[in-house]
Amino acid sequence: MSNKPRILVARAIFPDLLAKLEESYEVRSNQADAILSPEELQHELSGVVGALVAGSERIDANALAKAKDLKIVANISVGYNNFDVPAITAAGVMATNTPDVLTNTTADFGFALLMATARRITESEHWIRAGKWDKWSIVNNPLGMDLHNTTLGIIGMGRIGQGIAKRALGFGMNVIYHNRSRLPEADEKACGARYVSKEELLKTADHVVLVLPYTPANHHTIGAKEIALMKPTATLVNIARGGIVDDAALAQALKEKKIFAAGLDVFEGEPQVHPELLKLQNVVLAPHIASATEKTRRAMVELAMENLRAAIDGRKPPSLINAEVWKA
Ligand code: DGY
Repeated sequence: MSNKPRILVARAIFPDLLAKLEESYEVRSNQADAILSPEELQHELSGVVGALVAGSERIDANALAKAKDLKIVANISVGYNNFDVPAITAAGVMATNTPDVLTNTTADFGFALLMATARRITESEHWIRAGKWDKWSIVNNPLGMDLHNTTLGIIGMGRIGQGIAKRALGFGMNVIYHNRSRLPEADEKACGARYVSKEELLKTADHVVLVLPYTPANHHTIGAKEIALMKPTATLVNIARGGIVDDAALAQALKEKKIFAAGLDVFEGEPQVHPELLKLQNVVLAPHIASATEKTRRAMVELAMENLRAAIDGRKPPSLINAEVWKA
């Protein structure tokens, strides 16, 4: 048996990056990419000093019950709602995520989904593939909503929200935002955004984009009551997390044309998608791919690897979430 430290890589990663890890560690890998059950995860975490995980792995007291040697759980994701941070901290384990490296890629995708939603791009493609396009028409082709010179409302104004706001400036959009706390004036200026209440945002925006982190307090930030405040011509885009939108209420509202359309990259209970959403044309669906370019996914894995190496070598991981563990 080798005396290299043992680590777990809970999901498939790029083979060359896995090979790099294997130079320094004895790696329990999962290149088949099968999702581990809670029992399997608990078992796989026993005897390892570090673990690379993703949103599919819920790291809580149960997962950590046998992880007596564990120093770090490194999430390959900026969002870490799969972490029970107090339980991880209580176990004396460092928790890290992957901020910054995905900001621009995710903001690009937020804008792409917004455009696809407002301009009915995927619906149009389905229409062509179904053989329904028999002529160019002034009124009988899919007519969408403009983006330029309209008002964009962003809920959640962290790095990605600000990235979307900066892109919107190029489209001459009026950007308003709502966030837990207001941005410093210089940051508001840099992205040309004005702070408003959530209610004002929902009432006045032509397009609403959700980029806030999932927390129990943000559960169903957008439900039937909030959708009722929106314009019937408005679009709603969720690139944040499933659970921030009440998907059943959204499907009902889209069916009744209470808003124009929605674009969703994340879903409650994904990879399941609410069956009513699947029946609708006025929603663009994507399989949680906002950060999915090869360059960015590699950068996310590399940052998670750097966090893991640092913790195992006794250095402070660059994107440590629970600094208390480091101080202790
Ligand atoms: C993130 O990094 O949070 C993405 O949503 C992938 O989980």
